[in-house]
Amino acid sequence: MQRKEFIRNAGLAAASVAFVPTSQLFARKADQKVKMGIIGVGQRGLNHLDLLLRRSDVELVSICDVDARTLDEAKGMIQKSGKKMPEIYTGDNYAWKRMLDKKQLDGIIIATPWEWHKDMILGSLESGIKYVGSEVMIGTSLEDHWEVVHATEKYKANVMMLENVCYRRDVMAVLNMVRQGLFGEMIHLQGGYQHDLREVKFNDGVNVYGHGVEFGEKGYSEAKWRTEHSVHRNGDLYPTHGVGPIAHYININRGNRFNSLCSFSSKARGLHNHIVKKGGESHPNAKVNFRLGDVVTTSINCVNGETVLLQHDTNLPRPYSLGFRVQGTEGLWMDVNKSLYIEGKTAKPHQWEDAKAWLDKYDHPLWQRWSKETQGAGHGGMDFFVIHALIESIKNSKATPMDVYDAATWSAITPLSEKSIDLGSQTVEFPDFTGGQWMYRKPVFSLTDAY
Ligand SMILES: NC(=O)c1ccc[n+]([C@@H]2O[C@H](COP(=O)([O-])OP(=O)(O)OC[C@H]3O[C@@H](n4cnc5c(N)ncnc54)[C@H](O)[C@@H]3O)[C@@H](O)[C@H]2O)c1
Repeated sequence: MQRKEFIRNAGLAAASVAFVPTSQLFARKADQKVKMGIIGVGQRGLNHLDLLLRRSDVELVSICDVDARTLDEAKGMIQKSGKKMPEIYTGDNYAWKRMLDKKQLDGIIIATPWEWHKDMILGSLESGIKYVGSEVMIGTSLEDHWEVVHATEKYKANVMMLENVCYRRDVMAVLNMVRQGLFGEMIHLQGGYQHDLREVKFNDGVNVYGHGVEFGEKGYSEAKWRTEHSVHRNGDLYPTHGVGPIAHYININRGNRFNSLCSFSSKARGLHNHIVKKGGESHPNAKVNFRLGDVVTTSINCVNGETVLLQHDTNLPRPYSLGFRVQGTEGLWMDVNKSLYIEGKTAKPHQWEDAKAWLDKYDHPLWQRWSKETQGAGHGGMDFFVIHALIESIKNSKATPMDVYDAATWSAITPLSEKSIDLGSQTVEFPDFTGGQWMYRKPVFSLTDAY
């Protein structure tokens, strides 16, 4: 489809969409820069820093981290960019509160360990910030998720999960195809996080990736904190990369909603075996008992009748794949074999067809318009779009295209799956964070080529 035609069609759809206005709409001057801050400039935060530094419409006002090494890296990047050095907050785990007390930010990015996200989101909202971009997961317990939803409503603010996979090029082309009805009515969807993280969960305390089997205080970057979640928790610990795109395909919280959920966990072997293989049986970590099952499988049903299957698989040797399957009454796409089948449209009955020509044909207008800007951005360019969406929402004083209800719904899969597994894989009810508004809300995500 031509860009113009897409914009016309999307415009018709958008005409029925009322963006939720933020109450404190402020008149921005066209040349006014968006004042941003970042809490957490570790591996992920540095990516966001890079994207903010590339933009001429952003002024980086302040950054905060507790780690001197990564702060040095951040300062080096800022100096190299030629931009003004932001205020730097560090020294203790609550330095971010001092940063928020300054009340000078239009928006904030949070890229810290999961267990900090809820407090940092709430602190940002309480300080008056109207746009919070949080890295994946907005809390750990179900109560955390409700607290974030209620605070966002109270302060009439925007909390956007920075879920970059929603913007992956093939994922967006398939969204375009779904919206144009090529797969028919949606029936079943699959996705997940299938990524061998053994060398992320363990390292030598110096390298980010591998070279040792340490974690916790002796680890560096994610080995310092993420591995503890595998020791103490059993559930789908990272659902959002899989479920985010799926939620857009079937309009979750916008005419549809998740109804109930059930999770199964396999036994846990991968992390222990990795420690023994790389560090020897006598390494103290060989005695650690990991609760997280190697493969956690979660089924969700939706009020409109679709089923969703998610898998969390991070402890075993395997190539990376998010395992998408998007299946409707007319056919399906699967990303593992990079192929699709559409009855009567693909060349041969009962045979897969290479998806490339289809994905090129239905390339999403966002990618057509912004692909130059995506060059050099993380994860094949898709990281550009999450930051772009956050900044453009601020500039336009509009609601973010993924909102707090999306964030809570996707992220709450973790505590719900833990609860289901604790109850012997019983089915648990899925909370409706929208308070019934899902019936009236309309799709807003990526309807145009703007952001
Ligand atoms: N969307 C993606 O593709 C993607 C990729 C990687 C990580 N992530 C997410 O990004 C987040 C951060 O992960 P990461 O890989 O950057 O981890 P990291 O450990 O490399 O970085 C986290 C940073 O937070 C800092 N920090 C910890 N406590 C703090 C505090 N109290 N105040 C200020 N700073 C504090 C740490 O010093 C560290 O520099 C996580 O939510 C992770 O899941 C997302």
